[in-house]
Amino acid sequence: MSGGPFRVIEGGRTGEPTPGLLIIGASEVVTMAGGVRRGTAQGEVGRLTASDPAGPDAAVVACWEGRILAVGPRASIEGALEAEGYPLARFARLDAAGGTVTPGLIDPHTHLLFAGSREGELVLRQRGASYLDILAAGGGILSTVAATRAASEAELLAHGRRWLDEMLGHGVTTIEAKSGYGLDLETELRLVEVAYRLGREGPIDVIPTWLGAHAVPEEFRSRPDGVEAYVRSLIEDQLPGIAAHGRARFADVFCEEGVFTADQSRRILEAAHTLGLLPRLHADELAPSGGAELAAAIGAASADHLATPSPAGGAAMAAAAEAGDPVVATLLPVTTWFLMKDHHAPARTFIEAGVPVAIGTDFNPGTSPTASLPLAMSFACVGLRMSPDEVLAAVTINAARALALEDECGSLEAGKAADIVIWRTPTSAQIPYWPGADLVRTVIKRGRVVLDRP
Ligand code: NIG
Ligand code: FE
Repeated sequence: MSGGPFRVIEGGRTGEPTPGLLIIGASEVVTMAGGVRRGTAQGEVGRLTASDPAGPDAAVVACWEGRILAVGPRASIEGALEAEGYPLARFARLDAAGGTVTPGLIDPHTHLLFAGSREGELVLRQRGASYLDILAAGGGILSTVAATRAASEAELLAHGRRWLDEMLGHGVTTIEAKSGYGLDLETELRLVEVAYRLGREGPIDVIPTWLGAHAVPEEFRSRPDGVEAYVRSLIEDQLPGIAAHGRARFADVFCEEGVFTADQSRRILEAAHTLGLLPRLHADELAPSGGAELAAAIGAASADHLATPSPAGGAAMAAAAEAGDPVVATLLPVTTWFLMKDHHAPARTFIEAGVPVAIGTDFNPGTSPTASLPLAMSFACVGLRMSPDEVLAAVTINAARALALEDECGSLEAGKAADIVIWRTPTSAQIPYWPGADLVRTVIKRGRVVLDRP
């Protein structure tokens, strides 16, 4: 990863003799301790503030061998560390210099891997073409499929590294990455494998999702029973191959009027679940299509977009949350903006109904060509009317939950991965307040400094 404005420290602090890391000098530490956030708790972030970041009462974060050990006032934490057999001499100290400390951000919805770009569609939409018109004419997703099928593994790896590098610069330490630009077994396997390998390479963890049901490919479209034939081939051919490969953790479907029906989506996701892939879906992005209802009925980890859920779909998600089995509503506000829609996902309705809300970028070449999760946070505040605290929960613990990772990351709690961001801003409320700014000072992944901008 070269050439960028960032100083990426290869291997982090591995060369150092200290297994411990102590982050000091923060004016604010947001722990997000206490599990998934919903209802009024969506905006409770667990904030520790200090008038003097260098004083004994200022919160510090202690990490040991890549895990969080403790968070709390410096004087009492230092005393407790010594008493419990963690000698202070074995901690490297990292000064937050009056900035804010949060859990590493988690982007729960990206289409990381593709080839080519689609800037021409922006102009087509300005002239009145709709997203689904462009797709029906063989453009949109299908043009990216053509470019991606022609791309080598090496090209996809290079593309992935370039954008992961940018995500890291925005404070992101874990992402989900969908396939879906292959639409045949060979290319879908390549996309899932590249996502998996990028995650192994680090420093960002990459959770691969199989999205073979993203669109109906050209070779099936010419057939009179094309959609149904493709659904059968997904279930009988592509899915077993993806499951045998063993790398994809989730299965996703573009459940949308004119793409895959709720019934087809259900068959694909149930077949996938039987083979060990956890269900999630693109639900009600452009029109109410039964996606929210389906997500609640099958216990999906997440229903994504939800820009136009039906009242019954919203109620089904509220009932699932009430019953203690919530489907996370992963909202993607940059997409509605980039598609020039005048509606927004009803975030406030979901929060009031007790549905946990997460926010993602939806990074992809058609509807959301941005890798900046902080930018999506700004859009969530402005477009979805979420408070900065609600948004922070949405990109940390709730995003972790959307990826079934809530026991591993998403909060600064003892035992969890030491995935941490030090921001240049003195408060976390300023993160969405400065849209498009570079606000990250330092990123720590599993206890190692992986990005540092002194
Ligand atoms: O989340 N709607 C389906 N998938 C993506 C867009 C993919 C594309 O246009 O390339 C989305 O908006
Ligand atoms: Fe998407």
